[in-house]
Amino acid sequence: MEDPQWLAVDHYIAGHLLETDPVLEEALERAAAAGLPAINVSATQGKLLHLLARAHGSRRVLEIGTLGGYSAIWLGRAVGPAGRVLTIELEAAHAEVARANLERAGLTEVVEVRVGRALEVLPELQGDPFDLVFIDADKPSNPEYFAWAMRLTRPGALIVVDNVVRHGAIVDESNDDPGVVGTRRLLEAMAAERRISATAIQTVGTKGYDGFAVALVLEDDPTSS
Ligand code: SAH
Ligand code: DHB
Ligand code: MG
Repeated sequence: MEDPQWLAVDHYIAGHLLETDPVLEEALERAAAAGLPAINVSATQGKLLHLLARAHGSRRVLEIGTLGGYSAIWLGRAVGPAGRVLTIELEAAHAEVARANLERAGLTEVVEVRVGRALEVLPELQGDPFDLVFIDADKPSNPEYFAWAMRLTRPGALIVVDNVVRHGAIVDESNDDPGVVGTRRLLEAMAAERRISATAIQTVGTKGYDGFAVALVLEDDPTSS
């Protein structure tokens, strides 16, 4: 199903544009050794998240779905020493690996791993709104995560969602997998939400055929009451 050329091109791109990075490589090795599934974002995708957060000047980032902390390292490195990333993870064993990886990355002061069911943790979040939210956890809850992202961000914030294409399953009407249904509902909710402007991009590479949705939270519309 995967085209070998997708892998070759991803490796070519990474070889040219990404530095060799022992911290990130060891993070994946530690995750694999601990038996975590290899469903982290790819290196080229992690760098895209990093560049988006940097270009946007994000200082407060929320991530839903930590796994072994791979994407959290990319995001933690984007927010600067005074920035903060809060990342939520259901599985204590995943969070433990993530904390070890973040320590090795020198990001313990920047990235906080919160263990819990995201839908229970999100209502507890206090403080300043987030500048960027990365949604990458259980896909059936994607519509709820998007609703929370709208509540917890400021105008000008970015909301990025992983895995919105799923090998094209999104347009296969006979596919009623809860993750696919959740992601379809997410895209419908995005379409109906007037306070954002959004797109989604299909991707191929080491993670197969998938995609990201990206939404910009708009400034308050002065013409609406
Ligand atoms: N963002 C990570 C990958 C996350 S994989 C990276 O790219 O490196 C998805 C993670 O979401 C898994 O670790 C899984 O345990 C977690 N997860 C699943 N359901 C969750 C829930 N209800 N609340 C919080 N985390 C959840
Ligand atoms: C799965 C989850 C992900 O977040 C991802 O990027 C790839 C696969 C999964 O649950 O299979
Ligand atoms: Mg993902």
